Amino acid sequence: MIPFLDLKAQHAELEPQLMRAAQRVIGRAQFTLGPETQVFEAALAEFCGARHAVAVNTGTSALHLALLAAGVGPGDEVITTPATFVATIAAIQYVGAIPRLVDIDPDTWTLDPARIETAITPRSRAILPVHLHGRMADMTAIMNTARAHGLVVIEDAAQALGASADGLRAGAHGDLGCFSFYPGKNLGACGEGGAVVTNHPEFDERLRRLRDWGQSRKYLHAEKGFNYRMDELQAAFLSVKLPHLERWNHARRVAAARYDRLLRGLRVAHPAPAEDERHVYHVYAVRVRDRDAVRGRMAPAIATNAHYPIPVHLQPAFADLGYRRGDFPIAEAFCDETLSLPMFPGIGDDQIDVVCRRLGEAIQQTLIIAGEAA
Ligand SMILES: Cc1ncc(COP(=O)(O)O)c(C=O)c1O
Repeated sequence: MIPFLDLKAQHAELEPQLMRAAQRVIGRAQFTLGPETQVFEAALAEFCGARHAVAVNTGTSALHLALLAAGVGPGDEVITTPATFVATIAAIQYVGAIPRLVDIDPDTWTLDPARIETAITPRSRAILPVHLHGRMADMTAIMNTARAHGLVVIEDAAQALGASADGLRAGAHGDLGCFSFYPGKNLGACGEGGAVVTNHPEFDERLRRLRDWGQSRKYLHAEKGFNYRMDELQAAFLSVKLPHLERWNHARRVAAARYDRLLRGLRVAHPAPAEDERHVYHVYAVRVRDRDAVRGRMAPAIATNAHYPIPVHLQPAFADLGYRRGDFPIAEAFCDETLSLPMFPGIGDDQIDVVCRRLGEAIQQTLIIAGEAA
């Protein structure tokens, strides 16, 4: 079986350092807001090219606090995409704001900047692009629109640590950038984690307060906050792994290039980032008709996935958004067709070859059954 993701290989390589990091933290017996968090925050800020990084317990908390720090509140509208993980939309609702969804660009599969303008109303407060699969949304166009209308930009870069465009890393284009260190992410904790990066000192200060119960000093609660602190163990593990991220992201790009080459002859659409853009392939997805049938035919030999099979506006839990099927046809078609192939640093050329061969066969079998084979 070819796995979708192989975390064990990554951890085996670093096991001695991870164990030493754990011993250091346990020996010090300081488990939150200690030196490990500070060291990781400094390294992350430098990696992203941002002035500040604030470590928190999940990517969802990062989004929640970024929205609060930016002053987004009840009744405000936040423009974002329906083709994302539910956390993006949930975080907007956590602060009492209204997600204003717009469709995606059919080529990049991210928020379509050309559609943002029509979604802007007097209540618009922020734009929240999502760098889906590790590919950056068109931040130049988004920032131009945001600045023209006085809107805050919060990047959901949960899937895109290390991606870049126009010489700037994901998270450093907008006013705030949010990351997730969920174990399967390109930089994964040995548990949960998240962070917000920003160049604005006032946002940095507010984020630090909000993640620790709104305390401006011990037991002085300047405002209502949350327990969203990153724990020292995760910070120590992430500091071990961060120096390897560039190499891992490079390995993902090399694997993606092989997929691109081998998939050329098949009836699938696959990502085609621009020359000056650095995609980090958190997910390598193709678009294929009858996705579920194709997936079924690839199993169990090949583990595949779909990110995400149902757009957020069609999820039962988000019926309160008031949207219906047909409202975002490009995102809906994308979610119907998207198929994520095995992708991880260390995936073998032979494994990619087998995946592509099985994908080709599965598509052919599906077409024959549909009576459409060439
Ligand atoms: C696009 C996106 N946003 C937000 C999140 C939430 O991150 P976390 O799972 O760390 O809360 C994720 C991770 O699953 C994600 O993929």
